[in-house]
Amino acid sequence: MNDPAMLLPFAAARRRMVDEQLAGRGRDITNESVLAVMGRVPRHEFVPADQRSLAYEDSPLPIGYHQTISQPYIVAFMTEKLEPRPADRVLEIGTGSGYQAAVLAGLVAEVYTIEIIEPLARRAGSDLQRLGCTNIHVRTGDGGRGWPAAAPFDAIIVTCAPERVPPPLLDQLRDAGRLIVPVGTGGFQELVLFRKQGGQLEQRAVLPVRFVPMTGEAGRKLSSDLPPDFPV
Ligand SMILES: C[S@@+](CC[C@H](N)C(=O)[O-])C[C@H]1O[C@@H](n2cnc3c(N)ncnc32)[C@H](O)[C@@H]1O
Repeated sequence: MNDPAMLLPFAAARRRMVDEQLAGRGRDITNESVLAVMGRVPRHEFVPADQRSLAYEDSPLPIGYHQTISQPYIVAFMTEKLEPRPADRVLEIGTGSGYQAAVLAGLVAEVYTIEIIEPLARRAGSDLQRLGCTNIHVRTGDGGRGWPAAAPFDAIIVTCAPERVPPPLLDQLRDAGRLIVPVGTGGFQELVLFRKQGGQLEQRAVLPVRFVPMTGEAGRKLSSDLPPDFPV
């Protein structure tokens, strides 16, 4: 896969993905830094060998263990909504292949990412290391608890869908921080963007989506513990 002659078609396909499916799709993705990093990160390195020819199509792909790497458009959309800044420290819940973490790592200072399926976390960790991403910290665990030792975060991205937002994630968001999370069950989920401002949370739904569910003890316990009027 590192034969330069083999890499050229991937580079061309990635360029086309950015020009036609991201920048070219309405006016949703306009952040030039996000578009640039999507044009650099080799998505084909994060998918199984038999899926590589599809790596730059705008669709999710299987990565094993009944999980998927998200569609490039959704990765770019969520990244842009987080308003990433160079000094930011970002938490991701749902490492999966490691692709979203690699995109963020090209935009911010540090990325902390948690995956509940141990072999996926291990594989993503070694792929990210092989690709030279030195500002990403990967660990296996239940992301519903967040990463208290590294909190607070400037931004949090959740790439699996809880029924309700686990309160530790809201607690671990810094003031002026942004959190994006798909909320809901089964066929109906909304991507919700939170912003913490002076200790208050503002929230708005930004896109209907379909993600794999958030699993794990913390997510389940915390959502059933919430009072019925807890937002989303
Ligand atoms: C759509 S995939 C994520 C795609 C990933 N961001 C990427 O770039 O490949 C969702 C991931 O969330 C993980 N997940 C589900 N519940 C979780 C939890 N409670 N804590 C951490 N990860 C979780 C799944 O195992 C799966 O790998």
